[in-house]
Amino acid sequence: MLTDKIVVLGITGSIAAYKAAELASRLTQAGVRVDVVMTEAAQKFISPLTLRSLTHRLVASDMWEPLEEHRISHVSMAQAADVVVIAPATANIIAKIACGMADDLLSSMVLATKAPVIIAPAMNVNMYENPVTHANIEKLRERGFYIVEPCTGRLACDTVGRGRLAETAQIMGAIKIVLGKNGDMAGKKVVVTAGGTREPIDPVRFIGNRSSGKMGYALAESARDRGARVTLVTAAGLPEPTGIETLAVESAAEMLAAVQKAVKGADALVMAAAVADFRPKVMAKSKIKKATLSLNMELERTPDILADAEGNFIRVGFAAESENLLANAKKKLADKVLDLIVANDVTAAGSGFGTDTNKVTLISRDGSETDLPLMTKREVADKVWDWVVTNE
Ligand code: C5P
Repeated sequence: MLTDKIVVLGITGSIAAYKAAELASRLTQAGVRVDVVMTEAAQKFISPLTLRSLTHRLVASDMWEPLEEHRISHVSMAQAADVVVIAPATANIIAKIACGMADDLLSSMVLATKAPVIIAPAMNVNMYENPVTHANIEKLRERGFYIVEPCTGRLACDTVGRGRLAETAQIMGAIKIVLGKNGDMAGKKVVVTAGGTREPIDPVRFIGNRSSGKMGYALAESARDRGARVTLVTAAGLPEPTGIETLAVESAAEMLAAVQKAVKGADALVMAAAVADFRPKVMAKSKIKKATLSLNMELERTPDILADAEGNFIRVGFAAESENLLANAKKKLADKVLDLIVANDVTAAGSGFGTDTNKVTLISRDGSETDLPLMTKREVADKVWDWVVTNE
């Protein structure tokens, strides 16, 4: 989704300016055309040569020396941009934008653009918490600017507090959200589950499985990037993705409760989680001593979340199988009354638990089968949503 997009990356004079190099590099690798605009102060922290080398494009900074051979001026840049990102954004640039000032290339370009603008502040904690800065940020938020909040941590001034530039992954996530706003899933609400549930035996031990959660996270991020509102119910313990409501759960019972709440008003539920089929009938309140640990633990069935979740939405299940893949998947499709099942041969090379790729067959409610080649989990996720969007 980022390929061939044009991002104007504004870099201002904060010590976090060096982190903009990583952002520029990641965006370029993702196929984005990155046009960098640096303020004078930014160039005291990081050289334009660094950004030029990473983006393979000339870097603009001087209002009075437009790079004519590339037709770069504040107006042409402003018009060409799909999105403008200012990272790091100092208190100064935030104040200037909030007041509509245009005294250098970056501020003029922001004033001239109709593209969405993402601001990732980075500054000393007192500057960040100063009511003036706070008011300026709120003013920008109200005007539709997308703010990527700074995080709390050790700052360059040797204090600990809020003001550290958000992680590159968060800023990348914000760019995808903003670019996806008009995507083919805009206005849709979807629920995705991820990871393997853990069924407690006692406070220390559990029954678990090998699910990594990667497929579920890929599904959640794909839907977000296409403009959907996404709730991710996860037992995977992975970092929370930007722009996705993430509910962490452990057991099948907790996942059921979270899913039942989340699916209210949803258009689709995609259950990529590997839910335990059985759980210990009783959970011991304190750690069972090895000597008394029974070899015969009594188990009971867990609730079937996909079959039991109430509501009128598209239901997509996964069938992770090691044999008779298609026959087993078709049986689940029918038994659970699903719209689509993703049959996943967990024994195939590069497929199944923990890998970044997957080999699946999509089987839809009318019985039609689409055998997909080995592809990344993200590509599989895109195919699943393609099906949902066209078969609702
Ligand atoms: O029954 P089985 O586990 O093979 O079915 C797989 C599909 O059903 C998956 O999508 C899984 O997330 C879902 N499932 C569920 N609740 C369970 C067991 C599986 O929703 N208790």
